[in-house]
Parts: sequence; structure tokens; C-alpha cells
Amino acid sequence: TALNPTIFVIFGGTGDLNKRKLAPALYNLFMEGYMPEKFAIIGTGRTEFTDESYKTALEEAVNEFSRSGKVKKDKWDDFGNTIHYCPTDFAQPKTFENLKAAVEKYQKEYGAGTQVIFYLAVAPNFFPIIAECLQKYKLTQDEDNSRIVIEKPFGHDLESAKELNTLLSTIFTEKQIYRIDHYLGKETVQNMMAFRFANSLFEPLWNRSYIDHVQISVTEQLGVGDRGGYYEGSGALRDMIQNHLLQLLCLVGMEAPINFDADEIRNRKVEVLKAMRPFSSEDIRFSTVRGQYSKGWVEGKEVPGYRQEKGVDAHSNTETFAAVKFHIDNWRWQGIPFYLRTGKRLNQTSSLITIQFRDVPHQIFSAGVTENWQQNRLVISIQPEMSIRMQVQAKRPGLDMVLNPVDMVFDYKGTYEGDTPEAYETLLLDAMMGDQTLFMRGDQVEAAWELVMPILNTWESKKSINFPNYPADSWGPEEAEALIARDGFHWFNLPLKNKD
Ligand code: BG6
Repeated sequence: TALNPTIFVIFGGTGDLNKRKLAPALYNLFMEGYMPEKFAIIGTGRTEFTDESYKTALEEAVNEFSRSGKVKKDKWDDFGNTIHYCPTDFAQPKTFENLKAAVEKYQKEYGAGTQVIFYLAVAPNFFPIIAECLQKYKLTQDEDNSRIVIEKPFGHDLESAKELNTLLSTIFTEKQIYRIDHYLGKETVQNMMAFRFANSLFEPLWNRSYIDHVQISVTEQLGVGDRGGYYEGSGALRDMIQNHLLQLLCLVGMEAPINFDADEIRNRKVEVLKAMRPFSSEDIRFSTVRGQYSKGWVEGKEVPGYRQEKGVDAHSNTETFAAVKFHIDNWRWQGIPFYLRTGKRLNQTSSLITIQFRDVPHQIFSAGVTENWQQNRLVISIQPEMSIRMQVQAKRPGLDMVLNPVDMVFDYKGTYEGDTPEAYETLLLDAMMGDQTLFMRGDQVEAAWELVMPILNTWESKKSINFPNYPADSWGPEEAEALIARDGFHWFNLPLKNKD
């Protein structure tokens, strides 16, 4: 469908997110013919730039960060012609007058139906002031044609998330608000819906009668790098579990929607969050583990511990690892644990959803035959490998009857040609199309905060912890293994090709 003319206003236009993700995504959309025929990109920030120098800065950024490599010069010139810079200082709301003039110039030129997307790629303390200025300068009244895109973190806790939702709802309708969770834009994550609801094979097994537990594991090899200042006030639970991992859990746990309508899907997801068992203090003791990395060695290089990172307190109690056992109290999932785990400076970078099925009801094979026995698993690998694996038992060829677990694999690389789009390409296009399916609704964000608040509160009040408690390049604290081992399971990791 032809898109209406679109003006992208990027707050934080000189920031990291724009350089790494937004500008490359817009350029790739342009290269693949997805941008509207008429569009403009207006970057804003406090730094002084001319249109020309800003264009050059973005060209360098795209050259460095785009998945499609260096820009094609003639194409870049066409794309670059749409880029402008408008210095804006939130401390001086008057500077919004220039922005308003720039937006109106394009609205006039592009005519009726021109949509304006305000993208807030700035620190969250600026969200309220920007939203208020947009209202004051009457940039948001056109409900159908103006939208706001908000990056995480959406609130620091339940209370601040509610405050932000309340403020936004006085300025925008929910239809205008696009809260980003970039995990939802990942190709493999989008495929979760197709996998579950476009196949008849799996759904009959997708419940407590056939599944014995679910694991969602997002591990990262990198440390906090130069984001220590932000991370100190956040930690793994806020940074990853409250949003990305719980969104993955919703996609595994949700009931079938009746259609692909954004609100229908978001209703089914929020129902999962509402059905989740609230944490008692007993649960927090036995069903959660937190960790913080100490220094260590990664690929032959010494790396600092979290407490030695830039912007981090030397006695910091911020967790860089979290593992939590959740339950969904409904008919489908009663009694089935969902183990979520995430951390930095771990041994492997990978995001996996592992669904482990119940064992066969009766074992007909003798001990020698079943030495390598493995309950069936469905492993959805989100990244870096993009695949879905069904682990099943098979007879090893030979004269003896010996069973081995083998993988039936759907691998994106072997199946489809070419690159997959980056999450931000999908999400920016959806924002232009007015499709909110992959964005978080206000009530979802609040429900997720409500669920994790008791854990956060307990962790914050109990400071006497043994941090740091895992070395860089490990699988996290031992207690995380114990958490799942107590139930008779262990964390599943995909053997990576470049690892032994
Ligand atoms: C971000 C977190 O939301 O997600 C980061 O703030 C984390 O700490 C990142 O590293 C992980 O995203 P991805 O796409 O690299 O898995």
C-alpha cells in the first residue's frame, strides 16, 4: 500500500540510537523501496549542525552501522536530500518554534494526509518535557496523522510508568502512542505467531498436558561497556526481563487471537501477564537469583568486573544477571514453570526459547538403548543463529538398537536467501503504516511492571549480597543452576559453531 507522505522528527538526532539503528534502518527502507514517495527526516538536538554537516554525520553512521554495508553514493544523495537538522533545546521550549516551522513547511508542501512521527530517542527524563512542548506548539492534535514513538525504559517502576502513561494520555490517544520493544521487531520473534497459529501441528501440544517446562534465555557476552551510568540505575531485571523476556513469554503463553488485529493480539498478550502468579516473599527467596560479574578473561583479553566499569559505583549492588521462575495461573499453563534468565558477560551471546515436552508415558526401550535419552524439545533460536529445532529421538544406523537425540532443523540461512531486515526497519515501517501490533500498549507495560515490582523491592531492600558472584565468561552464578536443578531440569544452551 502506498504510504502517506511522512515527516520523521528524531529527538536525539545526534545520539547513539539514531546513528546505530534509526538512520541505517530508514536508509535500508529507502533502498528497498519501502519509504513513502514523499518523506523528510528532521533530526533535532542541542549540538549545532547545518543540514549539510548533519547529512554527512548520518552518512558516516550509515556506512558504519548499516547491515547492507556502505551507502551507494547516488542513492545516498537522493536519500540525503530529505535530511534536515533543527537545533532544539528542551530547556528552552521556544526553540520548538523552529521545529514547528520546519514541520509545517513540509506539511504544506506535501499536502493533506501528511503524517508526522515524533521519535523520542532520548533519555527518559526528557519524555515529559518533549511531550508537553509538542502539545504546547500544537503539533499533535491531528489524531490520525501524528504519532509519538517512545524508546525504553518506559518508566523506572510501576509508579513512574503509570505517571508517564497518564501524562501521555492527556496529550495523545493510545492510537498515537508507539512504545518500542525492539525484540518484537526481530524476524524470529515475529515468526512465533506464524509458527504457533499458522500450523496445526504444534498447537494441540501447546499446553500443560504435553509441555513440562519452558525456558527463555537471553545471554550476552558483552559487559555494560560505556552504558554504566544508565545501567547502574537499572539492572538486568529492569533492563531485560520486565520488557524483552516477558514479551517473549507472552508470545509462548498467549491464547490464539481471533484475527491479526493489533488490539486483539495485545489483548491476548496482556491476559498472560494478568494470569501470572504474583510473587510472595517465599517465592522471591526460592524462585529468583541475581548476579553480578567480576573481572575475568574473554577470548584471551582481560575484562573488568562490573564494579570497575565506567560510571559504576565501586560497591554497586546492581545485578547484571537475573534468573526467575514464573508461573502462569490459567487452564493452559497451571503448574508449568517458565524459567527466564538473562545476563551480561556470560559465556555465549544467544537468545533461545526452549520448550521441553513431557517424557513418553511408558518406556519400552531398555537402559542400554536409551543411554542418550533426551525428552523432546522445541528450540527457537532468536539470535545469533536464526532457527527452529525439533529435538527428537532416532535410531542410530547400525545393527544395534541404540537411540540418539537428533535435530529436525528449520534454519533461516539454509531456507531463505538474502539478509533479514533489522528489528528497527520493521518497527519504523509499522509506525509509518499505523500498525501497532508490535508495539507495547500502556496496560501491557504496567502489567509487566506490576509483576516484577515485588522482586525489585525485595532486592533493593536486601543489600547484603555476595556480589560479585560470577566471573566473566561463565554461565552466571551457581545459584541459577540450582534454581532450575531443584526441579530436575538444567538450562539448555545451543552449542555454538564457533565455540567448543
Ligand atoms: C537493550 C538493553 O534493550 O537490549 C541492552 O538495554 C541489551 O542492555 C540489548 O544489550 C540487547 O538487545 P539485542 O538486540 O542485542 O539482543
